[in-house]
Amino acid sequence: MSSRPLVSTENLSVRFARQGASDLVASRNVNLHIDAKETLGLVGESGSGKTTIGRALVRLIVPSGGTVRFDGQDVSHIRGGALTRYHRHAQMIFQDPFASLNPFHSVGHHLRRPLTRLRHLQGRKRQEALDELLTLVGLTPSSVFQEKYPHELSGGQRQRVSIARALAGGPSFIVADEPVSMLDVSLRAEILTLLESLQESRDLSYLYITHDLASARYLSHRIAVMYGGSLVEIATADELVQNPAHPYTKLLLSATPGSTHTGSLPEKMQGAPDLSADRIGCPFAPRCPSSMSKCTQMMPELLDVTTNHQSACFLNE
Ligand SMILES: Nc1ncnc2c1ncn2[C@@H]1O[C@H](COP(=O)(O)OP(=O)(O)OP(=O)(O)O)[C@@H](O)[C@H]1O
Ligand SMILES: [Mg+2]
Repeated sequence: MSSRPLVSTENLSVRFARQGASDLVASRNVNLHIDAKETLGLVGESGSGKTTIGRALVRLIVPSGGTVRFDGQDVSHIRGGALTRYHRHAQMIFQDPFASLNPFHSVGHHLRRPLTRLRHLQGRKRQEALDELLTLVGLTPSSVFQEKYPHELSGGQRQRVSIARALAGGPSFIVADEPVSMLDVSLRAEILTLLESLQESRDLSYLYITHDLASARYLSHRIAVMYGGSLVEIATADELVQNPAHPYTKLLLSATPGSTHTGSLPEKMQGAPDLSADRIGCPFAPRCPSSMSKCTQMMPELLDVTTNHQSACFLNE
């Protein structure tokens, strides 16, 4: 029996209009898939299009081109009730737990809303579900935490509320967009451990977006690397770190402090890539030490390096 992926994209593109310039292409023909109960890490420097892909997968934005599939169904352009039903299955956790919670609303309010909207729960049933959610993310006693407001919580507790909110509909897929980068270093491990245990107990798939290769490697089964809106390399986590094929990934790993290849990615390297719609070549060509003339004339496709490893570089041909 061939098992189909839980989430997949075909040539997913997201464009943003710019005044007086050609469109900005934040995601260009991206093909990826995430299996049930799998974590795909998504790494790349600031502005490479990671959040844009995450938002398109959970349909907070509409793709400009290509397809997003969930459990085989095309969800690229669904609206209204179909989109609300999709949001039971697919949710997002954001980087900044302060900005993503409304300071005027209690924890209970934040969680009752999706329980009502996505699961149509009311009264005692909804209260039971609320208690269960808070317990699940370690905010106990739930009767105390549901009355609290965001400013009364630590960063880690706020992120736990965001996680509980994402879980309210009973999802099977969560985009975790740099979920620990704004937290104290001392709190990061416990939030990552929580995400890991929820994956086990709730059979979750994650797209884990991060600048931090160490945590990507720790949490992810496979890792995808973005550059300039394109997916340039994807492989099992260990393979990517130990045997990178794409010149950009190699540069990232060599730029990582220490030789263990496990530190943080630089926020931004010299020279931002060209995201304009008229660009025709590889986004990395202007900075690539191995650049050839054809690299500026067409974008290489993702091709097999090994069975579980693809790289978009003419060097692999
Ligand atoms: N709503 C929008 N309108 C216009 N441009 C946008 C919009 N959202 C993102 N962009 C642009 O798309 C590109 C990719 O942005 P995105 O936020 O996806 O990158 P990222 O990889 O998540 O970066 P970071 O690591 O800083 O979070 C950037 O140039 C960004 O300015
Ligand atoms: Mg982002």
